Amino acid sequence: MKADPNTLSLRQKASLLTGGGFWSTTAVPEAGIDAIVLSDGPHGVRRQKHGTDHLGLEHSEPATCFPPAVAVGSSWDEEVAAKIGAALAKEARALGVDILLGPGVNIKRSPLGGRNFEYYSEDPLLSGRLATAYVKALQAGGVGASVKHFAANDQETDRMVISADVDERTLREIHLSAFERVVTEAGPATVMCSYNRVNGVPASENRRLLTDVLRGEWGYTGAVISDWGAVRARPTALSAGLDLSMPGPGEYATQALVDAVTSGRVEESAVDRAVERVLALVDAAPHEAAAPDLDAHHALARELAAECAVLLKNARGVLPLDRPASVLVVGEFATAPRYQGGGSSHVNATRVDVPLEFIEAHAATRGTRVTYARGFDTRDEDGAALREAAVRAAGEAEVVVVFAGNPEAEESEGFDRERIELPPSQVRLIKEVAAVAARTVVVLANGGVVSLEEWHDDVDAILEGFLLGQGGGAAIADLLFGEADPSGRLAETIPHRLQDTPTYLSFPGEQGHVRYSEGVMVGYRHYGTIDAPVRYPFGHGLGYTEYEVSDMRVRVDGPAGASVEVTVTNTGVRSGKYVVQVYVSTQAGPVRRPERALAAFTKVRVEPGRATRVRLELDRRAFAYWDVPLARWVVPEGTYVVQVGENAATVLHEQAVHLEGDGVEPPLSLQANVGEWLAHPAAGPPLRARIGSLMARSGSDLDDDGDEMRTVASMPMNQILNLTGGAIDGDWLLSLLGASPTSTDEQEGTHS
Ligand code: GLC
Repeated sequence: MKADPNTLSLRQKASLLTGGGFWSTTAVPEAGIDAIVLSDGPHGVRRQKHGTDHLGLEHSEPATCFPPAVAVGSSWDEEVAAKIGAALAKEARALGVDILLGPGVNIKRSPLGGRNFEYYSEDPLLSGRLATAYVKALQAGGVGASVKHFAANDQETDRMVISADVDERTLREIHLSAFERVVTEAGPATVMCSYNRVNGVPASENRRLLTDVLRGEWGYTGAVISDWGAVRARPTALSAGLDLSMPGPGEYATQALVDAVTSGRVEESAVDRAVERVLALVDAAPHEAAAPDLDAHHALARELAAECAVLLKNARGVLPLDRPASVLVVGEFATAPRYQGGGSSHVNATRVDVPLEFIEAHAATRGTRVTYARGFDTRDEDGAALREAAVRAAGEAEVVVVFAGNPEAEESEGFDRERIELPPSQVRLIKEVAAVAARTVVVLANGGVVSLEEWHDDVDAILEGFLLGQGGGAAIADLLFGEADPSGRLAETIPHRLQDTPTYLSFPGEQGHVRYSEGVMVGYRHYGTIDAPVRYPFGHGLGYTEYEVSDMRVRVDGPAGASVEVTVTNTGVRSGKYVVQVYVSTQAGPVRRPERALAAFTKVRVEPGRATRVRLELDRRAFAYWDVPLARWVVPEGTYVVQVGENAATVLHEQAVHLEGDGVEPPLSLQANVGEWLAHPAAGPPLRARIGSLMARSGSDLDDDGDEMRTVASMPMNQILNLTGGAIDGDWLLSLLGASPTSTDEQEGTHS
C-alpha cells in the first residue's frame, strides 16, 4: 500500500529521512509504512542479522562472493557484470535485502588506492558501461542499486574529511562521467554520497552535486542516501538534496529536522520531497524470495572469474600447461587464496575454491605429478626456511607455478597502500625459484596493480588474477591447463614505477586537501600523452590463440557521431574471446585533449579459422569535451582520428574523419585574446583585414608567424583596442559576433 505523506506528522516524516537501524529505514507502522533493508555489497550480499558494522568485521550470512569490480573491470564484458547483478538480486531477495549497496564507480587515479579492488577502472567509459549493465540486471531482479561513492572518493586516506579539489572539466570528464552514465541509462534506485568534501563542500551537503547536477542536469528521480556516517548536519544535507541519512537510529537527526522546519530554516516541502523518494523505495521493495541455487551460483562465480584474469606474459608458450611431467606449486595463496578485499564489501563466502586442489585435479587427468611448497608466510617477512625449501624443490620440477600477490593487510577499505611492489620476501622467492626452475609461471592475487619490475624478466609467464571471488581458485587452474581461455584485459595501467604515475606528487594529499593536479590525464591518458613507457598498458592482455583485426571502416553519422566496423579473425587453433577497443584521438577544441581516450569496446568469441564483423557506435560523448565557460559538453568542428587499438598504447588501424561538430563557439568577449578573435570564423576575417591595414600604414605586414604578431595574438583584445587609440572599435568588434556592447566592456575603457 502506498502511504500518503500528507497523512503523516512532521515528526513521522522526519523520522523517515534517517535510518531506523544500522541496515534499515524507519518503519511507521501506524501509517502502514514498513522498513526496508539496505546491505552491502557490490560483489556479494553481506547481510548481517546479528551484530552490525560497516567495516567487514562482524559476521554476515553466507553468500556467494562473485569477482569484485577489479576483476569485472578486467573482463571488459558487460555480460559478466550483468550476470553478477542478476545473481546478486536473487541472493539479496532470499536474504531479505531490498537495496544492495553497489556498484562502486570511483576512478583509480592512483594504484595506491586501498579500495581499487572495489572499483572497475582508471577509465570512466569502461567503468560506466560495466556498472550500467550490473545495475540494470540487479534491478531487473527486483533489488535496488546504490551507485557509489558520489563523488571523487578515490582514496581512503582521510576519506571522512579530505577535500578532493578537482577542476570542473576533470570532474565532468573523469570523475562524474561513470555516475552520469549509470544514472541516465540505468536509473539506480539510490545514489550514495561519499564521505569526502568536493572542492571544500562535504558531498553530503553539496547541493551542486546532489541537486543541480544529479537532478537538474541528469534528471535523476531516485533517492540520494549517505554513506554510513557521512552526514554532518542533517538539515543542511536535506536542503542540499540528501534524502536518507544512514545509518540509524537517528532520533537526534529527526529532532534536528523537526526544529529546522519549525524554525523556518528548512521548508517543509523539502522534507516532503525527500519523504516521497524514501517511500518510493519502500513501495518498490521486492518480496522476499526463496533461496537460489547456491551451487549454481558458485559455478557461475568460477565461470565468470575465468573471463576476468589477464594473461600479461607468456614467453615460450609456457601456458597453457601441456601435460608436464611435474608441476611444483609454490606460495601460501595457492592453499589460502586471496579472492576479495577487506572492509564493508567483505562477503562470508559459501565456499572457496583452493587453487592447489584444482591444479591437482586437472593434473591427475594428465598424468602430471604435483608437489607443493609454501614458499612464504605473509606473517613472517623473512621466511628463509620456507623459501629455501621451495627453491630446492624448484630444481626438480618441469614447471613451477608461484602464487604471489598483495597480502590482505596491505590493501583494504579504510587505508591506502604504501607501495606497489610485492613484499620483499615474495620478490626474493620468485627470483630464486626462477633462477633454478626450467619454466616459471607467476599467478598474482591483488586488488590494485603491483609493480613487476624486480622479477618480470626472470619468469616465463604472468597470469594476473587480481581478486577473482570464491570461484577464482578453480578458474585459475582452468586457465593454467587450458580448460578456459584467458580473455581479460587490463582496466588499470601497470606502470614501471610509482614515480611514473600521474598522481605521484598529489596522492593522497596533505592538510585536508588532495589536488587532482593530473586533471583529465588519468592513467593511460597521462602515459599516452607524454609518451611515457609503462610495463603493461591499459587494455593489454594475451590469449591462447592469435587474432587479426582488419578491414576497418569508419562512417560519420551526422555532425557529432560515427560508427566503426572491423573484422576480427581467429588465426590460431583455439577458440577465444577478443576485446575490440576503439579510441578517439583529437586536438579539436580550445582545450588540451589526451593523446587518446576509449570511445567504445566490445568482446567477441571467435572460433579458430573463423572471422566476425564487429560494428561499434560512437556517440557524441566519444568526441566531446566539457567546456567550462559554456558549462556544457561540446563537440568542436575538427579532425578526429578513430583508432582500433590492441591496447591504449598500440594502434592497429586508424582513420581520420572530419566532424562539423555542435557549431557551438565558446563565447568571445573583449577579454579574450587577439588570437582567439582572429580564429573566430565570423570575426576573424574582417578583424584580420583591419589589423592588416593598420600595420600596412606603418610599413609592416600581418605575418601570423612573425614575433610581432605572435606577441599581439596573446594579448587581451581590450588592451589592443586601447593601444590602437580607437582605430579598432569595441562596438564594431562585438557587432561582428552579433552581440551588443556590454557595460563590462564599456567600463574596460574600450571606447575611450
Ligand atoms: C562503508 C562504505 C560503503 C558501504 C557503507 C555501508 O563505509 O564506504 O561503500 O556501502 O559504509 O557498509
